[in-house]
Amino acid sequence: MAQIELTNVSKTYHDHVAVHALANINLAIEKGEFAAAVGPSGSGKTTLLNLIGALDTPDSGAIRIGELEITSTPAAKLADFRLRHLGFVFQSFNLFPVLSVLENLEFVPALRGLPKPDRVHRAEQLLEAVGMIDLRDKRPDELSGGQQQRVAVLRAILPEPDLVLADEPTANLDSENAALLLDMMERLNHERAVTFLFSTHDPAVMSRARRLIRLKDGRIVEDQVPKR
Ligand SMILES: Nc1ncnc2c1ncn2[C@@H]1O[C@H](COP(=O)(O)OP(=O)(O)O)[C@@H](O)[C@H]1O
Ligand SMILES: [Mg+2]
Repeated sequence: MAQIELTNVSKTYHDHVAVHALANINLAIEKGEFAAAVGPSGSGKTTLLNLIGALDTPDSGAIRIGELEITSTPAAKLADFRLRHLGFVFQSFNLFPVLSVLENLEFVPALRGLPKPDRVHRAEQLLEAVGMIDLRDKRPDELSGGQQQRVAVLRAILPEPDLVLADEPTANLDSENAALLLDMMERLNHERAVTFLFSTHDPAVMSRARRLIRLKDGRIVEDQVPKR
C-alpha cells in the first residue's frame, strides 16, 4: 500500500470565473520517495501540496495518508494528524522570530508533550549531525536566508513525520543556498528515510529530484524518474 494515495482528486476555485486548479489527479507516493511537483506558475503545485497536507479540502475525490482517509476526517482530528504525521517547509522560511534555533526545533515536540530534556537532546543531536550546532542559540534574524531555511527543514523532520511537504522551498534562495538546502534534504532522505514531496519551477532544483510529477493546468502531464 502506497504511503500517500490520491484518487480522482479535483479542486476548483470560484473567483470571477471557475478555475480548475486540479482536475482528476491520481497519484501514489511511496515511503522514502524524493519527489518534486513541477510546472509553471498557476499549474496547481501549491494546491496539490495544500490538499495532501490537509491545509485545504478537495471538491471531490479521496486522499489517504497512511491509514487515514483525510477527506472524511473532522477538522479537529486533522489538526492532530498534521502535528503527528506531517512536516511543512514554506517559501518564506517561517521560523518563529522570537525563538532561538533550538527553541524553533523544540516547538512541535513540545506540543506533542515530549519532556524538555528529551526534546533538547534530540534537537542538539540533529544540529550536531548536520554541522549546525554553532547556530543553536541564534535567533532567525541573526541567520542568513539559507541558514534559516535549513533550520526550517530540520524543524520539519525532527518529529519524524511520515511526509515532509515543501512548497518551493528554494524560491527565496540564491543558487548556492538552494544547492545546500537540497544537499541537506537528500541526506535526510537517504540517512533517515524521510519522505519528501517538494515543488519547484527551478530546473537546477528539479534535477535533484528522483521523481518528477509535471503539472499543467491542474493535470499531471508527465510522471517520471529522470535519467541521470
Ligand atoms: N485561493 C484561490 N482563489 C482563486 N484561485 C486560486 C486560489 N488559489 C489558487 N488559485 C488558482 O488556481 C490555479 C493553481 O494555483 P496554484 O496551485 O497556486 O499553482 P502553482 O503553485 O503551481 O503556481 C491558478 O490558476 C491560481 O490562480
Ligand atoms: Mg505555488
